Amino acid sequence: MNVHIKTYGCQMNIYDSELVAGILSSEGFTMIDNEENADVILVNTCTVRQHADHRALSIISQLLAKKKKNNYLKVGLLGCLAERLGDEAEKMLSGIDLVLGPDSYRIIADLLKEIPEKPYLEAENKLEDYDNIPALTKRGSSAFIAISRGCDNRCSYCIVPFVRGDERSRPADSILDEVKRLVDEGFKEITFLGQNVNSYRSNGIEFPDLLARTSDIQDLKRIRFTTSHPKDLSERLIRVIAEKENICSHIHLPVQSGSNNVLKAMNREYTREHYMSLITMIKENISYVSITTDIISGFPGETLADHQDTLDLVKTIEYDSAFTFKYSPRDGTGAFELDDNIPEAEKVRRLSEISDLQRSISTLKNKNYMGKEIEVLVESVSKRSENDLLGRTESGKNVVISNCNHPVGSICIVKVTGTTSQTLMGKSIKMIE
Ligand code: SAH
Ligand code: SF4
Ligand code: F3S
Repeated sequence: MNVHIKTYGCQMNIYDSELVAGILSSEGFTMIDNEENADVILVNTCTVRQHADHRALSIISQLLAKKKKNNYLKVGLLGCLAERLGDEAEKMLSGIDLVLGPDSYRIIADLLKEIPEKPYLEAENKLEDYDNIPALTKRGSSAFIAISRGCDNRCSYCIVPFVRGDERSRPADSILDEVKRLVDEGFKEITFLGQNVNSYRSNGIEFPDLLARTSDIQDLKRIRFTTSHPKDLSERLIRVIAEKENICSHIHLPVQSGSNNVLKAMNREYTREHYMSLITMIKENISYVSITTDIISGFPGETLADHQDTLDLVKTIEYDSAFTFKYSPRDGTGAFELDDNIPEAEKVRRLSEISDLQRSISTLKNKNYMGKEIEVLVESVSKRSENDLLGRTESGKNVVISNCNHPVGSICIVKVTGTTSQTLMGKSIKMIE
């Protein structure tokens, strides 16, 4: 049976799709990259904002229409929206074959062989960590590993803990074994994933210990991780990043808002002052560090002064880049009870003010790279032109290397010849590995 998976949402979902592909291929299914010849199409969905729901539902509806014409086709809804809809999915999406949340994938092969009568199956193990299930990773030189799943925080806007359950950490030894196996297979870079990697803890091993032990693995060139929650980011972690050469000098540290009032209402459990002190500590200890963030604009009750606090914070910190989002109310979360009182147009205005400011900062920061020679790990061939390669610097900047035929996985020195707010462009001077 040919299976095609469409993946939406965050890196955790990309990794989960690789887990599903790992499970299915070991059970004799063939994973394919396009939907044309698929017998099964699985859609791994996100539900973090309304927009994500709309997109997922529209894709599933199109697939169900296709299924009506080719009734051999099976269509499955996976991921966070699947978990949120549960039994509702059957009523909303008539003809859907399978509805599985993020903790139910272990049995997916059996379910596809024999489609159950009721499409939604609640997870038997709500603390599933998929330990010992090898993900099928096909993305060039860089691999993801979920070191923890779920989340014990209750940021008031956020649906993630409700769909991904309580936090659990995967045992360190098996994470380290998996990293070694991936390095033996030729992967140069590993990204550790968790909703809050800083609270990783398994048998007394904490996140800085796990990072330090991973960094000793031979031939592993780069270690990345995401996401760090500011309330759990320790000085020890900063020291480990500073000391170990193969731990990338990039920290994604979502601030969400620069206003203490809004941070409190968001239940983020840190203040602007604490966040700023972390930034100072990071900049003082890690040379050439890149800092990125997430920001939500238009949270219920956010005043113009609160919004200005966020703009001031962005200006002071000078992030390398930021993901900015309009607040989107999620049923079931704490903030859903609050009056979503910022008009849509005002949310959009605040959002663009923040993203315009950040874009100008990113543009200036990237311009500083003009003419410089930087080390780039080649991650893939460009989709736009097969003569160009895509890669990243250690600090996480995207680089387009033009007219270059180095293999994926090679590390090269690139002279920067052009920059935008998002990307560096350049030519390879030499391949060093
Ligand atoms: N666990 C991670 C990521 C959570 S989701 C973390 O704590 O950072 C990724 C981002 O989506 C969040 O950082 C937040 O900025 C944004 N987000 C989450 N819920 C949202 C909502 N209801 N409306 C708008 N943005 C939201
Ligand atoms: Fe959501 Fe907060 Fe958990 Fe991140 S830390 S997943 S924003 S509840
Ligand atoms: Fe990720 Fe979206 Fe789920 S952000 S954890 S795929 S709700």
